[in-house]
Amino acid sequence: MPSLFEPFKLKDVTLRNRIAVPPMCQYSAEDGLINDWHRAHLTGLARGGAGLVIVEATAVSPEGRITPGCTGIWTDEQARAFVPVVEAIKAAGAVPGIQIAHAGRKASANRPWEGDDHIVADDPRGWETIAPSAIAFGGNLPKVPKAMTLQDIARVRADFVAAAKRARDAGFEWLELHFAHGYLGQSFFSVHSNQRDDIYGGSLENRSRFLLETLAAVREVWPGHLPLTARFGVIEYDGRDDETLAESIELAKGFKQGGLDMLSVSVGFSTPSANIPWAPAFLAPIAERIRREANLPVSSAWGIGTPELAERVLQDGQLDLVMVGRAHLADPHWPYQAARALGIERPSWTLPAPYAHWLERYAAA
Ligand SMILES: Cc1cc2nc3c(=O)[nH]c(=O)nc-3n(C[C@H](O)[C@H](O)[C@H](O)COP(=O)(O)O)c2cc1C
Repeated sequence: MPSLFEPFKLKDVTLRNRIAVPPMCQYSAEDGLINDWHRAHLTGLARGGAGLVIVEATAVSPEGRITPGCTGIWTDEQARAFVPVVEAIKAAGAVPGIQIAHAGRKASANRPWEGDDHIVADDPRGWETIAPSAIAFGGNLPKVPKAMTLQDIARVRADFVAAAKRARDAGFEWLELHFAHGYLGQSFFSVHSNQRDDIYGGSLENRSRFLLETLAAVREVWPGHLPLTARFGVIEYDGRDDETLAESIELAKGFKQGGLDMLSVSVGFSTPSANIPWAPAFLAPIAERIRREANLPVSSAWGIGTPELAERVLQDGQLDLVMVGRAHLADPHWPYQAARALGIERPSWTLPAPYAHWLERYAAA
């Protein structure tokens, strides 16, 4: 059996294989509320055979959305709308996960296909953004955020806790804190965005504080038998990578101590002037280092879109779980195709019985 199709157990949750659909924003919600498109999208992905389907970055407050079309979980109504999706994902044999998020200084943007830039100041669709310091991201996101007060920090932490409770009550079995990609969590850690001179800025300990405090607060309400994970950008590709990686490994150790069950290793995206060495599976060796030095299970994405590559990063011990994003958009039955490509004798076994039976029965036809 290829490693890709071995079950994976984390806490009391067992995934049927090591293929996960990472969170992918659809920018299609209204007032944070999911709709028929999200239901079709997420259910289709679960049906395709992945072990885990993680719902897109879902905002813990209205100001935490990246765009006006982002999903939210700051109201009970929004949380209730997820219940049928959660049930459908389970019915298809996958585990339902959700990523909860606050976009920080990258919030209040137009959808990617409508500019991907900040909504201009006098447009009523936009809103004031908040961040550790009043420093704009730059490039297409020039809006200067308001520097958060200690009260703001406490409120956002409470928003994460409330979101985690709602996700729990909606039936999600896997929670991911979005601390990556230059959004609020990442921006507390990064010196590109955090120039504070209080206990939330300066030293590594201080820049880690918001993330570790939020993790601790969420851990208290998220059930102990269910996986709690975080996505974090361990490297920026900004010319100071050795230092950032060393700091990220320390943070990962802190995450582990704080009760995190797995780290989804990603890129920081904290500065528009990064020089990212895009290549198939380019992050996997870095994820392996985090896995080894922090002694924490890891997942990762970015260009692991072929079955052979996915199998290799697992066999090489670089990842515990493979995130397959865009390849799933191109083919929601990617796991089935992967099973065929990797020579599994009965690839239909990866699919729910009502599909598997017919594919098998007429396999030779
Ligand atoms: C349409 C789209 C939306 C995305 N939205 C999110 C998101 O909500 N949260 C997140 O952490 N990453 C997001 N990402 C990044 C993906 O999770 C993933 O890391 C990326 O697509 C690289 O993996 P891939 O090469 O397998 O596609 C998004 C990517 C795409 C293509």
